Amino acid sequence: MPAKVVVIGSLNMDLVTRAPRLPRGGETLIGESFATIPGGKGANQAVAAARLGAQVSMVGCVGNDAYGEQLRGGLLAEGIDCQAVSVVEGASGVALIVVDDNSQNAIVIVAGANGALTAEVLDRVDEVLQGADVIICQLEVPDATVGHALKRARELGKIVILNPAPASRTLPADWYACIDYLIPNESEAAVLSGLAVDSLESAEAAAAHLIAAGSGKVIVTLGAQGLVFANGARFEHFPAPRVKAVDTTAAGDTFVGGFAAALASGKSEVDAIRFGQAAAALSVTRAGAQPSIPTLLEVQAFKS
Ligand code: RIB
Repeated sequence: MPAKVVVIGSLNMDLVTRAPRLPRGGETLIGESFATIPGGKGANQAVAAARLGAQVSMVGCVGNDAYGEQLRGGLLAEGIDCQAVSVVEGASGVALIVVDDNSQNAIVIVAGANGALTAEVLDRVDEVLQGADVIICQLEVPDATVGHALKRARELGKIVILNPAPASRTLPADWYACIDYLIPNESEAAVLSGLAVDSLESAEAAAAHLIAAGSGKVIVTLGAQGLVFANGARFEHFPAPRVKAVDTTAAGDTFVGGFAAALASGKSEVDAIRFGQAAAALSVTRAGAQPSIPTLLEVQAFKS
């Protein structure tokens, strides 16, 4: 039986434009292309875990609009169990994304139906959580839901991953003890720790701060610089595989989903990190969120 990953989080339709650069405040730019692409940090992580070998259940909400149908249908087509994806009255979540010629992006999300994923809804699908080996949360659904999910996941004795994205504030203190792996990127690590993160050393300092706050292990992802893995007082740097980046959207999600799938399948932490990095590296060579996520065979064949 493949290992079971449950993702609790957002589903968004990404409205993506490519432009030569990101616009400045008050500026209108001429874009080069436009596409609607399935995304949302939760759904992206679910797709990554599924393509990379895990059996996956998604817990989330979509609206009763055309985007909702496409988002749910897309996950079903990946073989993801969607019995815990509710369809609610109103609009699905959307993300407005601009990707520039340097493959960098700027994203604004509007929660829509993701805001309807409440603690009560989670309680109704507790059986899905009970069946998990690994439970992953992010921060695109209400905080109260994330807090409830983390506590329940800890109570059930699951491996708990929090990808604190997007981060606009520090985390509630009582969440940390529920987290086995906290996986922020550099800007999220900075917001959570209150420290500037712009080097390996400062990433280690931020990770140490988050471990002191009570988190289990911390992985600070640093884009092309790789990542820092912090385990107690030990820090290890994993350089990123070198690839030509086209679009970094969902690279972090691909890492999280790949890491979770590998960990759930019994790989060591180090092997799961390298596997997640290879998957994320492949994803940045392709455009879009979910279309960019590689399969297990592609990752196994990948050489940087
Ligand atoms: O992490 C990338 C994702 O962030 C996009 O797919 C978008 O939906 C936003 O949630």
